[in-house]
Amino acid sequence: MARWSSGLRCLLLLTAIAFIYTQVRLFKAQSEYAEKISAAVEGENQCTSQMRLLIDQISMQKERLVSLEEIVKRKEEECEQLRTLVQNLERKDVKNLFQQNQVPVAAVVIMACNRADYLERTIKSILKYHSSASSKFPIFVSQDGSNSDVRTKAMSYKQLTYMQHLDYEPVRTERPGELIAYYKIAHDMEISPDFFSYFEAGADLLDKDKSIMAISSWNDNGQKQFVHDPYTLYRSDFFPGLGWMLSKSTWDELSPKWPKAYPFMLIFIFVGSSLGQFFHQYLKPIKLNDLPIDWKSMNLTYLMEDKFVKHFADLVKGASPVYGTDLNLKISNLQGDARVTYRDQQHFEEIARQFGIFEEWKDGVPRTAYKGVVVFRYKTTRRRIFLVGPDSLEQLGIQS
Ligand SMILES: *[C@@H]1O[C@H](CO)[C@@H](O)[C@H](O)[C@H]1NC(C)=O
Repeated sequence: MARWSSGLRCLLLLTAIAFIYTQVRLFKAQSEYAEKISAAVEGENQCTSQMRLLIDQISMQKERLVSLEEIVKRKEEECEQLRTLVQNLERKDVKNLFQQNQVPVAAVVIMACNRADYLERTIKSILKYHSSASSKFPIFVSQDGSNSDVRTKAMSYKQLTYMQHLDYEPVRTERPGELIAYYKIAHDMEISPDFFSYFEAGADLLDKDKSIMAISSWNDNGQKQFVHDPYTLYRSDFFPGLGWMLSKSTWDELSPKWPKAYPFMLIFIFVGSSLGQFFHQYLKPIKLNDLPIDWKSMNLTYLMEDKFVKHFADLVKGASPVYGTDLNLKISNLQGDARVTYRDQQHFEEIARQFGIFEEWKDGVPRTAYKGVVVFRYKTTRRRIFLVGPDSLEQLGIQS
C-alpha cells in the first residue's frame, strides 16, 4: 500500500512539474505574442500617419499646380493685351512721334468703366485742349471690364490708344480702396485750358524735387468764393483730390499690380458717374480755370521744398491774428490777410464750418493743409485767410 502510495506521489509530483513547466512556457509564449502585437499596432500607426502626411503633401502640390495654372493663364492674358497695345501703338505710328525728337511728358490715362456716353464727354473735353500738346501727352483709355460700347467708343478715336485694364487684384494701397474712391471725375466735369501746360511745368518740378509726391490741378477748397488768382500754387501735405500726376516710381510703389510697361509719368483721369451729394455740395461749385496760362514760361522755383517754407512763412507772418468768436465779422473789418489759430481737430471743424470750407481730416491732416495751415481767399478777394495749427508757426520757423 505504502509502495503504491509512494509511486502515486511520485507520479503526481512529475505531473505537477510537467504542468508548471507547461504553464511557464505558455506564459512566455503569450507575453512574446503580446509584444509582437503591440509592435505591429505601433507599426500600423506609423504607417497611417505617414500616409496622411503623403496625402497632405499631394493636396498641397495640387493646390500649387492650380495656382500656377492661374498665373500662367493671367500671364497669357496680359501678353495678349500687351500685344494688342503694341499693335495699336504701331498702327498709330508712335515711332514717328519719337523720331520728331518729342519725348512725351506724361501719359494721360483715362480710366473708363461701363458708360460709353460718359467716356465720350470726357474724351471730347480733353481733346479740346490736347491738339497743341498731343505729342507730349499721349492719351490712353484703360477699360475696366469688357463693355463693348466702351471699347468701340474708345477705339473710334485715332488720337488715343485703347487698352484693357490689367489689374486683376484690387490696387494695393496703405488704405485699400481709398485711391479709387476719391479720384473719379464726374462725367460732367471738364479740364481747363491750361491743363497740359500746367502738367508739363509740374513734371519739371516732380523731376527736380524728389520730396514732391504728386502734382495735382485740384483744390479741394477751390469753390469760386474761396479763390482769387489762377496763378497761385501751393504745396500740400494732404494727398489731393481728383486729377493728379505721379512719377512712375511712385506709381509702381503704390500699385505693384500695374503693368510696368509705361515709359513716362502718368496723369490719371477717372471717368465716373456723378458723385451724388458729395459732388453737388463740394465738387460742382469748384471754379474751373478759364485762362490759358503758359506755365512753362513761369518761374516756379518758389515751390521747391527749401524755398517754399520761407515763401509760405512770409505769407502767414504777414497776416493779422484774429481770435475768439464772430470770426467773419472781425475779418470783414480788417484790411489784409488774416490768420486764425485752431487748437485741435474739433476746433478746426468748428472754424471750417463758419467759413464753409472742408472740415475733413485724414491721418491728422486737414484737407489741403501745409504744415497744418489751410489757406483760402476771403470772398473771392485778394485777401487770404490762414487757419493755423497749434504747431504750424513753429514748423514754419515763425516766432509767435
Ligand atoms: C526764380 O525765382 C527764384 C526765387 O524763387 C529766384 O531765386 C530765381 O532767380 C528766379 N529765376 C529767374 C530766372 O528769374
